[in-house]
Amino acid sequence: MTIEILTNKNGPIISKYIYGQFAEHLGRCIYEGIWVGKESDIPNDQGIRLDVVEALKDINVPVVRWPGGCFADEYHWKDGIGTPAERKTIVNTHWGGVVENNHFGTHEYFHLLELLGAEAYVNGNVGSGTVQEMQEWVEYMTFEGESPMANLRKENGSDPAWDVKFFGVGNESWGCGGNMRPEYYADLYRRYQTYVRDYTDKHVYKIACGPNIDDYNWMEQVMKIAAPFMDGISLHHYALTGEWLDKGPALDFPEAHWYSLIDSAKKMDELITKHSTIMDKYDPEKRIGLIVDEWGSWLAVEKGTNPGFLYQQNTIRDAMVASVTLNIFHRHADRVQMANIAQMVNVLQAMLLTEGNKMIKTPTYHVFDLYKYHQDAELMDTYGDTKEHVDYTVSKKDERIAISICNHSLNSKETIDFNLPDYTFDNAEAWILSADKMDAHNTFEDPNAVSKKLFDDYSIKDKQISVTLPSMSIATILIKGA
Ligand code: AHR
Repeated sequence: MTIEILTNKNGPIISKYIYGQFAEHLGRCIYEGIWVGKESDIPNDQGIRLDVVEALKDINVPVVRWPGGCFADEYHWKDGIGTPAERKTIVNTHWGGVVENNHFGTHEYFHLLELLGAEAYVNGNVGSGTVQEMQEWVEYMTFEGESPMANLRKENGSDPAWDVKFFGVGNESWGCGGNMRPEYYADLYRRYQTYVRDYTDKHVYKIACGPNIDDYNWMEQVMKIAAPFMDGISLHHYALTGEWLDKGPALDFPEAHWYSLIDSAKKMDELITKHSTIMDKYDPEKRIGLIVDEWGSWLAVEKGTNPGFLYQQNTIRDAMVASVTLNIFHRHADRVQMANIAQMVNVLQAMLLTEGNKMIKTPTYHVFDLYKYHQDAELMDTYGDTKEHVDYTVSKKDERIAISICNHSLNSKETIDFNLPDYTFDNAEAWILSADKMDAHNTFEDPNAVSKKLFDDYSIKDKQISVTLPSMSIATILIKGA
């Protein structure tokens, strides 16, 4: 295959927030996965486990969405502040009916962000919370001066205030967040968002609850009624192997499931295109961001685990899902301003899995590592041959070109010649993630079975780089102008 790269043409910037994470009070994501408590033997910083923080820092996590998900619409933030031992114990009704002791609350979340160097995306409660509760939370987090909520925050040990970059007004309000109709939600959104105030000169970016998958009517109605009041609107789409109620296994799956999961992930392109077309009617300037704040593979839970905990293994197939989805987001960089893979640790398509004091990086983690060079880079225009199983992104930042390529064929290698007629270079560095089995994955006994390796199957001549990718592999090549 031959691809021409137009390095002289200006493309949109790929927002770093497309590499966002999602951490919900669900299963072992927050508790065990992130929070182990100050008394734990697992090395931690004020209760937050350090192995997880160190691993996540290496992939430049830009933003973490919290506290849910479905959990957000039952979360009452005042339960999670003050002396931990005195915090209210509640039942996590959505996720396994387990006890939630609220030891990880607002202060702990901002401490996690500080350790990661990430920004906040807090999801507010519309389903079962009041306008006053939401208003007070924003005041508690962001107001510097004298006020009941700012004073309470200071009493609880945090002065100065924090920055809340993004705020979600409800989650899945068409389902677990209240089973609303779009017209009703749109009016509620207008009301609730009024009280999500800017207490500083930094604007809080307000995100309305958008559609599930292909619910185009939801998008139409919410945009029609509420577009001027929002900065972003969400979209949720999970990759499945078949039907929602019959999820395929994460390991030891048939070949048909390799293709069906990747095809389901690729549907993201059609969804973004069609939802963007509706958004264009009400927002032709593309001011409003499409925020894909839940995406990833949703597979059957691992045998013997609590079905409400959504714990699944992660293979080279999930790495393919991550790669093709990130490529889609890049191609829609003019509209997709943020995305948050579900979820960061131990839940669904996770970056990391933990077991006691052990932690492993998943193949998906390595894709985020290989792709981090595209954060805030300019998308390069390309044209040339296409093949169903080959997908790629080319971007440019500070005169460095990053090419990420995915070959999701199960059995054929692929040679791709990239021509860069307007770019002079004479060397490159490259890494690859590959496997020889379609359910290759990492385990606590063999943590690096699928991991990023140096890659050298490429050659450079006359403004061309020629790359040969084995089947089931993803590579990133960095080239720097001479
Ligand atoms: O990510 C798991 C759940 O999926 C989230 O809580 C919810 O928003 C979605 O249905």
